[in-house]
Amino acid sequence: MHTLIILGSPRKNGNSESLAQSVASGIMQHPGATVEFIRLNDLRLSPCQGCGGCNKSSTCVITDDMTPLYQKVDDCDHLILVSPIYFYGLSAQCKTFIDRFQARWARKYLSGIRFRHDEQRQGTLLVTAATEGKKIFDGALLTAHTLFDALDMKNGEHLLVRGVDQRGAMQKQTRILEQAVVLGRQIAGSPGLE
Ligand SMILES: Cc1cc2nc3c(=O)[nH]c(=O)nc-3n(C[C@H](O)[C@H](O)[C@H](O)COP(=O)(O)O)c2cc1C
Repeated sequence: MHTLIILGSPRKNGNSESLAQSVASGIMQHPGATVEFIRLNDLRLSPCQGCGGCNKSSTCVITDDMTPLYQKVDDCDHLILVSPIYFYGLSAQCKTFIDRFQARWARKYLSGIRFRHDEQRQGTLLVTAATEGKKIFDGALLTAHTLFDALDMKNGEHLLVRGVDQRGAMQKQTRILEQAVVLGRQIAGSPGLE
C-alpha cells in the first residue's frame, strides 16, 4: 500500500507537518507500506488557467512540476492532503495543486472514466488552525472532499486540529499526535498493531 503525503504549508517542520509525520509513522508500522512526501512549496506550480484544454483529453496543457504529480496521484493507494488553515481555507500551495486536478474532474465527469474506483482508495485531510472557530474547517473540508471525488477516491477519515499556531505548538499536543499515529495505522489497515 503506497501513501502519497502532500505537504501544503510553506513552513518546514510546522504544525501540519508534525501531524503528517505522526500519521506516516503509524502507516509505516504496517509491513510493506510505503510513504512518499511531496512538499508543494519546493515546486514550481502554475495556477489552473481555466482554458478548457483538459475537457477532451483529460490532460493538463501546462507543463511544470505538476506534470509528474498526476501519475504519482494515479499510482497511490491513499492520498493525504496536509495544510494549515489560511483565511478559513487551504493554503495557496494546496489550492493551486487542487485546481490543476480539473484535468481529473474532466476524466471522470466529461470522459466518464472511473479510474481505479474502489472503496479501499481513500483521501485524508490533515489541517491545523490557530483559532477555535466553529466553522474554521468548513471550507477546507468541502474543497478536499471535492478533490477526492474528482480523483474517484473515498472521502476518508480526517484529522482537524484547532488552537495550534506557533511552530512547535503541535509537538506539544501529545494526545493528538498519538491519535495521528492511530489514524496512520487505520489507513494502512492494521489498527491493532502496537
Ligand atoms: C496567511 C495566514 C493566514 C492564516 N489564517 C488563519 C485563519 O483564518 N484561521 C486560523 O485559525 N488560523 C489562521 N492562520 C494560522 C495557521 O493556520 C496556524 O498557525 C497553523 O497551525 C500553521 O500550520 P503550519 O505550521 O503547518 O504552517 C493563518 C496563518 C497564516 C500565515
